Amino acid sequence: DAGDIEKGTYPHYMLKEVDEQPFVIRKILQSYQNEKGELTIEADILNALNEADRLYIVACGTSYHAGLVGKQYVEKMANIPVEVHVASEFVYNMPLLSKKPLFIFISQSGETADSRAVLVKVKELGHKALTITNVAGSTMSREADYTLLLHAGPEIAVASTKAYTAQIAVLSILAANVAKSAGIDIGFDLVHELGIAANAIEVLCDSKEEFEKIARDYLSATRNCFFIGRSIDYYAVLEGALKLKEISYIQAEGFAGGELKHGTIALIEDGIPVIALATQKAVNLNIRSNVKEVAARGANTCVISMKGLDQEGDRFVLPAVHELLAPLVAVIPFQLIAYYAALHRNCDVDKPRNLAKSVTVE
Ligand code: G6P
Repeated sequence: DAGDIEKGTYPHYMLKEVDEQPFVIRKILQSYQNEKGELTIEADILNALNEADRLYIVACGTSYHAGLVGKQYVEKMANIPVEVHVASEFVYNMPLLSKKPLFIFISQSGETADSRAVLVKVKELGHKALTITNVAGSTMSREADYTLLLHAGPEIAVASTKAYTAQIAVLSILAANVAKSAGIDIGFDLVHELGIAANAIEVLCDSKEEFEKIARDYLSATRNCFFIGRSIDYYAVLEGALKLKEISYIQAEGFAGGELKHGTIALIEDGIPVIALATQKAVNLNIRSNVKEVAARGANTCVISMKGLDQEGDRFVLPAVHELLAPLVAVIPFQLIAYYAALHRNCDVDKPRNLAKSVTVE
């Protein structure tokens, strides 16, 4: 329910929430900075993280996709192993746990039944849990030992946008704090880099006509669409595909570029849109060859790259941000392309069929 949150001049909550993302990142920076300007998290949460030998991230939907990015942060910055699980599977397919596990639940609403069921179960088993949520006082916040807030403001549109970028930003802060207390130098200034990312998101929000055109050119006459990416881009394209299917009902799938040849490439036929993300230097050439492979089979390819890695013919070039923060920025075109694709199809953008904002049944 939208309650008293106004759309203002926006035609849809989703568009408003997409546009709020630069402010949300800045709000998070403000909320997590101490008087010295350092990003910190509460001492007891940091202690729990430091004591853990492995983190188990549990979430659903978009929050799960943010968790996949968060795993990269914690493993790359802080050197602690992380597993990411879909909550509904975890309940009956519980992995073998490490000696000192810490559970992290990511939930915009803090009310998702699948995630809550796992929280209740691990608490029964005597484990500690941290909930990362947008809603202070939500069920999962109350039932966990610790809470980190997203500070994204109410998210009304069913398709999650600003909560995803907020989750990624908060996970980067969590990872940087764990790294710092372990004496690991992450090699960059996170405050500065998140600021750059917020500015980049703002630039993208000002480029809406570009994304409307991409939606028109690639998606107006298709029933399917593929997204490909490698490394951390793979996680971003999973979210891109989810946004598109949720609100436009176009069958969309995100694939790891390297997996194409193991099956998916069989689906490529004349005119099929393939959106490729290229923000990671180490795999830029590999994803480029995937683009060539699908283009040679007739795909209508749309490359979204990052400045510095861009090549002639790329459909859109994202402003440069720190490589690890690329999903924060790369998701904006995906959100907007999905938005316009849905709009062009006269779909109910804010309340897509069969979906609920917060699913309180298992
Ligand atoms: C529902 C929503 C999704 C959301 C998922 C998890 O399915 O439609 O947008 O990602 O729940 O929600 P949560 O509140 O736990 O993040």
